[in-house]
Amino acid sequence: MSVTDIFGVFKRVHAAFISPPLPPSVESNDASPPLKVGLLGAAAIAPHALVMPAKTHPEVELYAVAARDITRAETFAKKHGFKKWYGGGDGYQQLLDDPAVDIVYNPLPNGLHYEWTMKALAAGKHVLLEKPSGDTAEETRRMFALADQKGLVLLEAFHYRFHPAIQRVKAIIDSGELGALKEVNATLTIPKGAISNPANIRMNYDLGGGAMMDCGCYPLSCVRYLASANPSAVISATATRHPKDPRIDLGTTANLTFASSKPGEEPVKSTIRCSLAHPPRWGFIPRLPEIDVNVVCERGSIDMFNFVMPVIYHYITVKPDGAAPRTEKAYTFESGKGEDWWLTYRYQLEAFVDKVKGRTPQTWVNPEDSIANMEWIEKIYEESGLGSRPQSTYVPPSA
Ligand SMILES: *[C@@H]1O[C@H](CO)[C@@H](O)[C@H](O)[C@H]1NC(C)=O
Ligand SMILES: *[C@@H]1O[C@H](CO)[C@@H](O)[C@H](O)[C@H]1NC(C)=O
Repeated sequence: MSVTDIFGVFKRVHAAFISPPLPPSVESNDASPPLKVGLLGAAAIAPHALVMPAKTHPEVELYAVAARDITRAETFAKKHGFKKWYGGGDGYQQLLDDPAVDIVYNPLPNGLHYEWTMKALAAGKHVLLEKPSGDTAEETRRMFALADQKGLVLLEAFHYRFHPAIQRVKAIIDSGELGALKEVNATLTIPKGAISNPANIRMNYDLGGGAMMDCGCYPLSCVRYLASANPSAVISATATRHPKDPRIDLGTTANLTFASSKPGEEPVKSTIRCSLAHPPRWGFIPRLPEIDVNVVCERGSIDMFNFVMPVIYHYITVKPDGAAPRTEKAYTFESGKGEDWWLTYRYQLEAFVDKVKGRTPQTWVNPEDSIANMEWIEKIYEESGLGSRPQSTYVPPSA
């Protein structure tokens, strides 16, 4: 990293996380009033995934938050500028019953995605739903069917897809500059630490825990995106099981194949790796998170660092055979859309609001894509021997 790079990191991180340039407050506009957001659960991810992006989006208003504990909801609301809060056993439903709420953000534990998304849709709200969308593909199918039936927007929050950086990697592959795709790997590992504590919800089987669900859904989504296809097979998958609960994977590695874009060619190879507890090197040297995409094509390769949080820092190194390598960065779109300090979540919110307002979003993650990602998560768990996470027992009233 050069000095200019380091300066850029500070500048973007300051604007993205600490002091975003706020938009001029919108005059009340009867033709297109701001969308009022309701947040289910005072989740730790919400400040980055929703609060900061919403504060810099003139068409979104932080409106209400619900938590099991009303004091927690109130503290969260006051800290982050929500007008209302709901709490207690009925708090989530009260938020959904509030007629002023237009859109709901659901970052609840995976095992509650289905129940509360179904309830939010039944209440007539558009939903931004954290990934993975459900515990099983069946849950995901049902949620999208209800959204469709009600004419509501439902989006699985695969925020990295909305950022120009990963879109640039895909554009290079799709341009044919390097020839047909031969191999695509993606990795997301988090160093061993607090997450692997059995008390963490990510380690709770009944709540849809496991590394392949949590951080593993990213590399899977990413290789499917870059290959512009679903895998043809899971060749092998191995999981490192949690010592306290063998149904939970601390990490999973899976080898997949995709059909080649060229008839008669060998299938495209793909390895995805994820870990919530990547052990120190040689047992004692702490690791950095690994957040890489590695692509091999017929006539060159592409390596990308940091497809998940590209706003902080990323690079895309393109190595065409027989020519000098080049490094690209993409913090904004070539069209000029976006700001270099926009988080993936801010780009995502832009698209979500565009969709709700009936405009065409720059990018979308469509229902088939979300359903397929869950299907292949389940197939990988089947291959590694851990099996699918338990399907929600919630039965919607109309069913
Ligand atoms: C995936 O394939 C690589 C070789 O391409 C092999 O080294 C590795 O052991 C395989 N991983 C699994 C989980 O089967
Ligand atoms: C992809 O991962 C496999 C398995 O670890 C490895 O053998 C292969 O070299 C990797 N390919 C790239 C392009 O990184």
